Amino acid sequence: MSNIVFSGIQPSGTIHLGNYLGAIKQWVDLQDKYKSLFCIVDLHAITANKLLASELKSNIFKTVAAYIACGIDPEKSIIFSQSTVSGHAELSGLLGCYTPVGWLNRMTQFKDKAGSDKQKASLGLYSYPVLMAADILLYRAQYVPVGDDQKQHLELARDIALAFNNYYKLDYFVVPEILVLDHASRIMSLRDGTSKMSKSDPSEYSRINLDDTDDLIVKKIGKAKTDSILGFDFTTLKCRLEISNLINIYSVLSSLDVDKVCEEMSKHNMKHFKKELADLIISVISPIREKVIDLLRDRFYLHEILEKGAKKAAEVASHNMKEIKDIVGFVQ
Ligand code: TYM
Repeated sequence: MSNIVFSGIQPSGTIHLGNYLGAIKQWVDLQDKYKSLFCIVDLHAITANKLLASELKSNIFKTVAAYIACGIDPEKSIIFSQSTVSGHAELSGLLGCYTPVGWLNRMTQFKDKAGSDKQKASLGLYSYPVLMAADILLYRAQYVPVGDDQKQHLELARDIALAFNNYYKLDYFVVPEILVLDHASRIMSLRDGTSKMSKSDPSEYSRINLDDTDDLIVKKIGKAKTDSILGFDFTTLKCRLEISNLINIYSVLSSLDVDKVCEEMSKHNMKHFKKELADLIISVISPIREKVIDLLRDRFYLHEILEKGAKKAAEVASHNMKEIKDIVGFVQ
């Protein structure tokens, strides 16, 4: 057992409401209870859909700013970028030797991201879950707060930890546990209730970004897909994917139970519900957006946070890496 929390977000685009509700919101609460590391996983961000160097840099600064604006306190938590601590890549290479390819062939996210022509997908995309396992195991983290889409990767990280421990007949790696928030673990696209809200969806109207203006939020919620059934009958939500998603977002943001939201909104029409929902989202997103804008004015400060975070993370990482190499039998 350890009392360490590790999680991360790829700086591959703008952070959206799904990332906030599924991941960052729980990080904010956890940082008061556990030693927490929140990483900007830049090595993962180049495994697919490569960005221009200037875009990647800008996304990294935006992600640090978003972490802080959402409530991650750099005095309490370690904020750093993955590529600045060499142990991540080093351990990933090593753990690859304890990971059968058969395990990687099962990863559904690889299949989705690689698309129809798998021969063209990068080796980095294929071994992505091993790097993710290395991120977590490097710090011997116990808890990994993520959205539902990362469950399979977490299972793999557990399997790799156990394979290593069993081979050397010791309990070196902590077997990590996933932490998901019931209702926020899978926020769906605003255009299609069968796919999750995602940074890579080509439709801007499928997601609410943390930097969306109030007007844009009103527009996106106004255009959000609904159906022709009248009212918000709680018992029929299962078959109404898009409405169910909107009600769910309302419920998570307002801390009201889903049945209570349905009951309240049944007194009104869809236009009223959408207005209430947009107002609620704005009340949460707008202060974050303004804080991000403010923080981005001082890149020096953000850079300093990353540097300090990297120093602290590297101390733990290099200590653990030495122990891991010793277990394997490398002479150092
Ligand atoms: P990424 O960058 O895709 O997403 C960051 C976090 O946001 C969650 N998330 C969602 N939650 C609810 N609804 C959604 N629609 C939604 N979309 C995304 C994700 O589950 C995630 O928690 N592989 C990871 C990053 C990573 C990582 C790690 C996470 C790399 N190493 C180690 C934890 C521990 C990823 O691509 O997240």
